[in-house]
Amino acid sequence: MLGKKTLKSTLLAGLMTVAGMGFSLQANAACELVSVVDGKPLNIKVTAEDSEHAKTFLETCKNPYTKLVIDGQKDYEALIAAKANAKGAEMKELKKKIKTSAFGKAKKLYGLNNCTGCHGGKLEGVMAPGLRKQPSGGQSQYDNQWVYPQNATDKGMFETIAGGTPGKSGGTMFKWHKQIEGHTGGGLTTDDILQTIAYIRANYAGKGEKVWLK
Ligand code: HEC
Repeated sequence: MLGKKTLKSTLLAGLMTVAGMGFSLQANAACELVSVVDGKPLNIKVTAEDSEHAKTFLETCKNPYTKLVIDGQKDYEALIAAKANAKGAEMKELKKKIKTSAFGKAKKLYGLNNCTGCHGGKLEGVMAPGLRKQPSGGQSQYDNQWVYPQNATDKGMFETIAGGTPGKSGGTMFKWHKQIEGHTGGGLTTDDILQTIAYIRANYAGKGEKVWLK
């Protein structure tokens, strides 16, 4: 006969199985990234340096930085405006705030990794497609449409930047993610790429066919 204690532990084991099933379902729902170059899986894993935002993205395909960076743009602009008249300690404090703000960090990543060199400081397209709607750019046929339509989603833009592209517009994009073989320079982390994507979304200007975010 089952004692009270045994019954309790049987129930507990049952509950744990249900919890375990929940967990494995979650694992199955992970964002399945695919290379734009060859359609093969882009195996990007969670690492110790990843923030909660990066983990959320790798689980759900949604970029939590987009809202943070867009919402932070006004604060960033106010800090820049305040800097014009600031001196001494106040100036130091403002610079620190600018550097650590969500928008400031994302903007810096876009510039630091020389995205500007090819896509332009205003994302207008210099020697690569513009990343925002523009009247004319480096490759103007792509001013109003993405070269790769999947860039309208966080997942698609992450795939383009992380794993590179096959060159539909005439040039190719490097592979940027540090976990991808053949990546450029020191490579970028999942967080770096997500913040850069948020910066691109924040800069989208216009109501054209280049869908901002789906
Ligand atoms: C050496 C030049 C170069 C650099 C540097 C560069 N790109 Fe690109 N990028 C390109 C080219 C060329 C394409 C078009 C690729 C194609 O047609 O396959 C592209 C495509 C893209 C696209 C897809 C655009 C579309 O219309 O589908 C995104 C997004 C993008 N780049 C973001 C970035 C970001 C973010 C960085 C910095 C981390 C960056 N690029 C750095 C050359 C560059």
